[in-house]
Amino acid sequence: ENPALIDTFGRVATDLRVSLTDKCNLRCTYCMPAEGLDWMPSDQVLSDAELIRLLRIAVERLGVTDIRLTGGEPLLRPGLEGLIAEISALEPKPRLSMTTNGIGLAKRATSLAEAGLRRINVSLDTLDPEIFVRITRRDRLSHVLAGMAAARDAGLAPVKVNAVLMRGVNEHEAAPLLRYCLDNGYHLRFIEQMPLDAQHGWNRKEMITAAEILGLLQEEFTLSPFPAARGGAPAERWLVDGGPGDVGVIASVTRPFCSACERTRLTADGAIRSCLFSNEETDLRSLARAGARDEEIADAWRRTMWGKLAGHEINEAGFAQPIRPMSAIGG
Ligand code: GTP
Ligand code: 5AD
Ligand code: SF4
Repeated sequence: ENPALIDTFGRVATDLRVSLTDKCNLRCTYCMPAEGLDWMPSDQVLSDAELIRLLRIAVERLGVTDIRLTGGEPLLRPGLEGLIAEISALEPKPRLSMTTNGIGLAKRATSLAEAGLRRINVSLDTLDPEIFVRITRRDRLSHVLAGMAAARDAGLAPVKVNAVLMRGVNEHEAAPLLRYCLDNGYHLRFIEQMPLDAQHGWNRKEMITAAEILGLLQEEFTLSPFPAARGGAPAERWLVDGGPGDVGVIASVTRPFCSACERTRLTADGAIRSCLFSNEETDLRSLARAGARDEEIADAWRRTMWGKLAGHEINEAGFAQPIRPMSAIGG
């Protein structure tokens, strides 16, 4: 029996993305409605002890080497620093990173780094405070910028920045965002918007494609192929003006990277998903609460990953968005 999380296409999932909460303190229009969502009942959210047990099984028995904490907004998880310290103490020690909206990060970057976090990715779609309010429905741009700087200064480097461009909203900011990130030592990646919003408002014609993004950047910068292998990374990268700065594009829709996917996912309520776009999940929380042994849980996880599809079907006729929105899956 193979101990790893392998699928029928020969991919091996070594990268675990863990959603710590489905709650968020922003309301990005491409993610959720202004009024928020019906958050998960707290008795369904994994406790710290339950979560640590599942992560221990993942690193001890399933070959997981990298763990990324996501949300919702992971900084909203009570006791996050303690959780990070416990994850860092697992053997073999996983590389631990987090994807956050950056609110509250300025005050906590040092304690997060001291607890054992290695890297941070921050979402930033605009440098204009008014456009920030239009996109996130909250007036917090300065908090995010301060959070990014604090993360960099705390050694949570390189800080990566995720930007979603939207037509008529912030597409004119592609070049300024890149300039800002280059000047501050951040690695910027532009993301094609995916059909994962709770309102089901995604529209292919509205999406700014990777090709468009590159066109916008090339009006101001010279891009050349990045001289290193991409591996399982979702971003395709280009050197900017000869380097050393670079820019990435995560073209999930127009240039899917599913064939190189190394990911497995655990939701805040303890479900395993083999893909962002899965329509099936495995409820490990119920299994664990019913008294399952470590090896039974590991087996259920392996079986879920064995059933991983070749890729998402966004570009196929009859595509149906997953029932869970992005904020309840973990980005
Ligand atoms: P690093 O490059 O290792 O820092 O991680 P990352 O890029 O995977 O992390 P991050 O959480 O910042 O994800 C960036 C974006 O990639 C997310 O916002 C998603 O839009 C996209 N993404 C993450 N996972 C997947 C996935 O499994 N499939 C697809 N299609 N897109 C994904
Ligand atoms: N499509 C693409 N990216 C999205 N994000 C949130 N919703 C979507 C979507 N529908 C991004 C956020 C954040 C990351 C976790 O996911 O901007 O950077
Ligand atoms: Fe919150 Fe991220 Fe969704 Fe924005 S995209 S509302 S920051 S979970």
